[in-house]
Amino acid sequence: MKEQNQLNTGQPRERWGSKFGFILATAGSAVGLGNIWRFPYMTGAYGGASFVLLYLGIIVLIGASMLIVDFVIGRHGRANAVESYRKISSKFVWMGYLGIFCAILVLSYYAVIGGWITYYGLSSFTSLRGLDSGQVGEFFGAFSGHPWKPLIFQLSFMVFTVVIVMGGIKKGIEKWNKILMPALLIMLVILVIKSLTLEGGMEGVKYFLKPDFSKITWATVVAATGQVFFSLNIGTTGMVVYGSYLDDDINIPKSSLPIIATDTAVALLAGLIVFPTAFAFGVEPGSGPGLVFVTIPSIYSSMPFGSVFSFLFFALLLFASVTSSISILEIVVAFLREKTNLSRKNASIWTGVLCMILGIPVSLGFGIWQNVTFFGKGIFDLFDFFAANVSYPIIALFSAILVGWIWKKEEVIDAVSSHGLYSRKVSETWYYVVKFVCVVGLSIVALSLVGILK
Ligand code: ALA
Repeated sequence: MKEQNQLNTGQPRERWGSKFGFILATAGSAVGLGNIWRFPYMTGAYGGASFVLLYLGIIVLIGASMLIVDFVIGRHGRANAVESYRKISSKFVWMGYLGIFCAILVLSYYAVIGGWITYYGLSSFTSLRGLDSGQVGEFFGAFSGHPWKPLIFQLSFMVFTVVIVMGGIKKGIEKWNKILMPALLIMLVILVIKSLTLEGGMEGVKYFLKPDFSKITWATVVAATGQVFFSLNIGTTGMVVYGSYLDDDINIPKSSLPIIATDTAVALLAGLIVFPTAFAFGVEPGSGPGLVFVTIPSIYSSMPFGSVFSFLFFALLLFASVTSSISILEIVVAFLREKTNLSRKNASIWTGVLCMILGIPVSLGFGIWQNVTFFGKGIFDLFDFFAANVSYPIIALFSAILVGWIWKKEEVIDAVSSHGLYSRKVSETWYYVVKFVCVVGLSIVALSLVGILK
């Protein structure tokens, strides 16, 4: 990252060091708990392969174009999300505030799950060692439901995230991503091979890949859209912020492809690990947020050097989670730094403190507060549903309207093609996809949401 002048505030503002650094950091922000923890359990909760098919369809039809939308808005704005939206139309600044609110909600539970990962990594050589799937289930229930133990690990995850963001998110992260992301992919491939060879595993593959169209409902459509957005950080305003650090000569459409490919590949690999294992060991695929935490250790128990693999897996997953959590925290920090007198350090610390406090009820909601519900949802579900399934699609819908219908077409094409440096034809095609396909598709999702909520 090199420092450059910030156009809006005159403060120094960072830029990505290189195109490769940007792709790595952005893929790092996309790949995280969303792919390895959330995608499998949502797939299980919504009936398997039909959810996967919808998920893939939404990425192609809407997700890919909307990722480009976010980058373009960010690069054009060169500021936090609120100011980037304002630069195109002041009527759309509310999306920036909603994104910041959701970032706070999501980070507060992301740290809870990040804490579980940390605990699992540390327990690989001790209490997790050699447990069968039933015992792993009990282990998970006892830990996640404990009143204070998970809070310690949640705090450590939050401190880790805050410390990195305090120092400027790109130092170090660009470098470590280069080594640890491929390592995570190798680890996932090893696990896929192992899970596919488990007895009874093929039933899980069928469940994951053979769609039963009768299982598709409007709720599935909303959930799959929420998953695409959560995973790719679209509609979260996170990619607007990352786009704001982009140099003018970066080819945005072309750079988006490896990010989408990596994110999707990791989710599919995770599914190919979790479902064969769940079927082989008799774990209920629809068992919710604990799914990965019960299935993965069960595989390791049946492998030579299982504890070593388990430790490495959770360490790599922790790293992938942190490269995502820092991008969520950065949404808030970019705003506070540019709109208040807070330094990067103080903005990071205070946001971290707030998210830690909000995360406490989420953690307790997996244990002593599990019967506390609002609108029929537990505390974690409420935070997650409001952010991923309600807010992100709404922000994305209005971002598509902003780019397709409000911003002048010539300016949009100019912005995405780097002032004609790259193909205007590609930019025009993308423009019409956003203007019509994304706006119509996302309106349908918004209407389904109204149907589900009523
Ligand atoms: N996109 C991030 C993830 O998938 C938040 O974990």
